[in-house]
Amino acid sequence: MCGIVGAIAERNITAILVEGLKRLEYRGYDSAGVAVFTNDGDLDRRRRVGKVAGLDQALAEQPLAGRLGIAHTRWATHGAPSEHNAHPHFSGDQLAVVHNGIIENYEALREQLKGLGYVFTSDTDTEVIVHLLHHKLKTDTDLADALKSAVAELHGAYGLAVISASQPDRLLAARSGSPLVIGLGLGENFLASDQLALRQVTDRFIYLEEGDIAEIRRDSVQIWDQQGCAVQREQVQYHEGAEAADKGEYRHFMLKEIHEQPKVVQRTLEGRLGTDHVLVNAFGPRAAELFAKVRNVQIVACGTSYHAGMVARYWLEDLAGIPCQIEVASEFRYRKVVVQPDTLFVTISQSGETADTLAALRNAKELGYLTSLAICNVGTSSLVRESDLTLLTQAGPEIGVASTKAFTTQLVGLMLLTLSLGQVRGTLDAGVEAHLVEELRRLPTRLGEALAMDKTVEKVAELFAEKHHTLFLGRGAQYPVAMEGSLKLKEISYIHAEAYPAGELKHGPLALVDSDMPVVTVAPNNELVEKLKSNLQEVRARGGELIVFADREAGIDNGVGTHVVAMPHIDDSLAPILYTIPLQLLSYYVAVLKGTDVDQPRNLAKSVTVE
Ligand code: F6R
Repeated sequence: MCGIVGAIAERNITAILVEGLKRLEYRGYDSAGVAVFTNDGDLDRRRRVGKVAGLDQALAEQPLAGRLGIAHTRWATHGAPSEHNAHPHFSGDQLAVVHNGIIENYEALREQLKGLGYVFTSDTDTEVIVHLLHHKLKTDTDLADALKSAVAELHGAYGLAVISASQPDRLLAARSGSPLVIGLGLGENFLASDQLALRQVTDRFIYLEEGDIAEIRRDSVQIWDQQGCAVQREQVQYHEGAEAADKGEYRHFMLKEIHEQPKVVQRTLEGRLGTDHVLVNAFGPRAAELFAKVRNVQIVACGTSYHAGMVARYWLEDLAGIPCQIEVASEFRYRKVVVQPDTLFVTISQSGETADTLAALRNAKELGYLTSLAICNVGTSSLVRESDLTLLTQAGPEIGVASTKAFTTQLVGLMLLTLSLGQVRGTLDAGVEAHLVEELRRLPTRLGEALAMDKTVEKVAELFAEKHHTLFLGRGAQYPVAMEGSLKLKEISYIHAEAYPAGELKHGPLALVDSDMPVVTVAPNNELVEKLKSNLQEVRARGGELIVFADREAGIDNGVGTHVVAMPHIDDSLAPILYTIPLQLLSYYVAVLKGTDVDQPRNLAKSVTVE
């Protein structure tokens, strides 16, 4: 969501901090700021509303140089985006803090601190932290001791970075509910909320765990756990090329990521397929033993990841014969859930740091599920670390806020799960599994064929440029594909879009249909296609304009008010993955025509680490 970067070195660190912020900007971007302990011995800061480029400009006009500093990009939760609400927040002229997360008891703390004479200059929850720390330093003069005592009074979620002008030989950090990683250099060390911010300076990282407090000096790192005991945390070497943070030949990260799908789907399959079956131990060494006991599946996720889970429900019940329930995490976590015996609890997440999904997993652990499985794109994430079993999607870093390649690789992971459960429980015919394994091998090629329709879809997008509302229709496992298509369109083009199961149209939404309402449909050639055709007739009869992505053999033809885009043929089970591609391209080109900020749409953030 928001982004944190910190550095302590022998050289000027301002440019490192700003470069780190640029790399994190895709997460939150309504304001940005940097605070540096300057070479003159003062704590000074620059803050600007808007993107990091604005902060960069401010620094060009009024440079800041120093060897210790912290920086932040903000996505507003408490207090509007404004310069006075932007981080870093100061207490007096000695102490600066940046914060990701939400402090739930900030109102009570604010009153208490006001009573002690502190004057607040922002509307944020973060400012209570810096004043509270200032207050603690009056009795605990060591910065680390004062921080331990201050965070003990905070309720909520935080990733914090702290610097003090009176103790400029250290950078302090605290993690609870919001990720932080230390980057290890030679005679210099760094801190960030995501390693992506630091790949320009190091490839060695230490991930802080829940409740950890760290004191980072130029040549050493000291970490204390939740109980205050000194601990060693493992160092991790990062290998993947840094090319991910580069748009390459593409105009936007989103388009680049859409076109990466054949490659990342291939990677997600690598090492996970035997000759005619899925290798169940791809889910972990204990997977086969645990999967054999599974009688039900509960899936929990948010947004696009939730749509992937909805597709998986069709697969799990249809192919593996396992009852499956799916719920959005923000609902699941707050209701009383009745758990069926031997239920596998599955979370799906690109980032692995989504606050609601993580909270749902933590609740689930108290509820008696058989075991937990995370299908996730970030191996070092909290979700992965806290789940019993894991399947890592291999989408690589996804920078565009609108999720694309993460979704299709999640679907691949969920198909592998379906086949594994069916195989181990003996509910899936071996011939069907062998056929689907073969189809999965061909999938990257099929996706490449769908991507080759890029220019055709770009043309179709012109039909939307002046529209304000759209309906997306699908039947069966294509209904969640329609939901995902409508989410993409509204996210990046700001056109109001809704998805319906095509059979529901006549129960209400048909009243909306007229010549101003384009209706987008996905139509693979399956046993539901004839029923879908009748639904499309209902739309045409009301003057509605149809855009249909249809299998070449589905028998749906171009005509007045009906624009058909022919799709390559694919096995029906894998059709949700293939039919996602033209819908992603459609949203992309509509957004480009409308001139919106495709990679960083308004009001949204990449990794939603607050409730
Ligand atoms: C939409 C989108 C979001 C995320 C959601 C969950 O394009 O990206 O809806 O899917 O915020 O995020 P993860 O998958 O990181 O848990």
